[in-house]
Amino acid sequence: MADPGFEVPPYDNWGDAQPYAMWARARATCPVIETEGNDWAPGPTFSTTTFADADRVLRDPATFSSAINAEAMAPFMGELLLGLDGEEHRRYRSLVAQAFKKSSIERWRRELVDTVLTRLLDDIAPLGRTDLVASLTTKYPVQVICGIVGVPLDDHERFNEWAEKINYGPLDPHAGMAASAAMVEYLEPLVAARRTEPTGDLLSELVHAEIDGEQLSDARLHGFLRLLLPAGAETTYRVFGTCLFALLHRPEVMTRVREDRSLIAPLIEETLRWETSVTMVSRRAVLDTEIGGCPVPAGSPVTVYNGAADRDTERWQDPDDWNIDRDPQAHLAFGTGPHQCLGMHLARVELDAGINAVLDRLVDLRLDAAAPAPVIAGYAFRGPTTLPVVFSPSR
Ligand code: HEM
Repeated sequence: MADPGFEVPPYDNWGDAQPYAMWARARATCPVIETEGNDWAPGPTFSTTTFADADRVLRDPATFSSAINAEAMAPFMGELLLGLDGEEHRRYRSLVAQAFKKSSIERWRRELVDTVLTRLLDDIAPLGRTDLVASLTTKYPVQVICGIVGVPLDDHERFNEWAEKINYGPLDPHAGMAASAAMVEYLEPLVAARRTEPTGDLLSELVHAEIDGEQLSDARLHGFLRLLLPAGAETTYRVFGTCLFALLHRPEVMTRVREDRSLIAPLIEETLRWETSVTMVSRRAVLDTEIGGCPVPAGSPVTVYNGAADRDTERWQDPDDWNIDRDPQAHLAFGTGPHQCLGMHLARVELDAGINAVLDRLVDLRLDAAAPAPVIAGYAFRGPTTLPVVFSPSR
């Protein structure tokens, strides 16, 4: 079905877009939408807006291939985990997943996450006024990823710049390729050093990981490292900002959470459901099929709006409300099926540590009434662009 009221905004406007009302209309009237495609996926595209359709597409990789993710990004990211299917994906994922085991995440929290937060909040706490996006959220997960990979924390700005140019590679291929090459050149000596002398960091785990005698090829190792920053930092910093945005707009909830930290876990899950940072994922139908009764020819790109799925009224009451007291139900912020986010446990740990640290260190925290009100915006990636706050200065 084509829906004349449904229009994917031009790519240049994605940063400011507010798509939830349009997705809700589509879900109510025409839940699977056929459009002319977008900058990433030209040609007729089928987009899903309900929870049931999103869940079904993501759990059926034999019909809906992830190879579409490699088509646009392979020149810049190399061999991309996100772009593989079937056995090839399973083997590659099993090798890198070894580095994300529970014991590693616990160690990263102890040795890295809290240290990064303390350093950042030591600078912020005496100020009494700051923009938490500029001074905290944009700096925190990227420094954690650098630390996890084994790159000096002070190099995080170079990594951020490369990650952004790689991400925008399809729009500026020259800059994307240059950033991709610069990142490999930077990492190569580190990879060589870890091969001969493992240090226990993620890089050491990755170069020595082995399943059935198979190790990661250099192309896959570098492909994975180029995916880690955009996948791990760009996503988590935005959700961290949204958790703080929600708390700052609901001071009575902030007081409850400050006093009862067991509420942080439901707060994180509700924020992920309500305003995930990654609102859509891509697939391509490899067989003639249907979604929700709508015929989808083989070869068609399929956009799964997991952001829209997580506000489906069939599954949640008043889904546009942020309500940390809801009965827990699985959401699709991390996707589902074989490509479900590999870093979701790390993301939850980072969000938990980040919220705890802000509540511990920034007393009497509130929105800065003298600054423009913050907004959460974006089409594919969402989060607040500013969070101006005031608090009682402390050491
Ligand atoms: C709140 C933060 C995060 C969100 C909302 C998020 C979201 C997602 C989603 C929706 C997918 C599925 C993509 C698909 O099905 O095509 C995904 C995959 C992935 N994520 Fe995350 N992510 C987050 C944090 C992280 C972190 C911290 C890391 C690693 C450090 C990470 C690494 C990955 C990887 C490697 C994949 C690809 C898995 C595969 O293809 O098998 N993510 N993420």
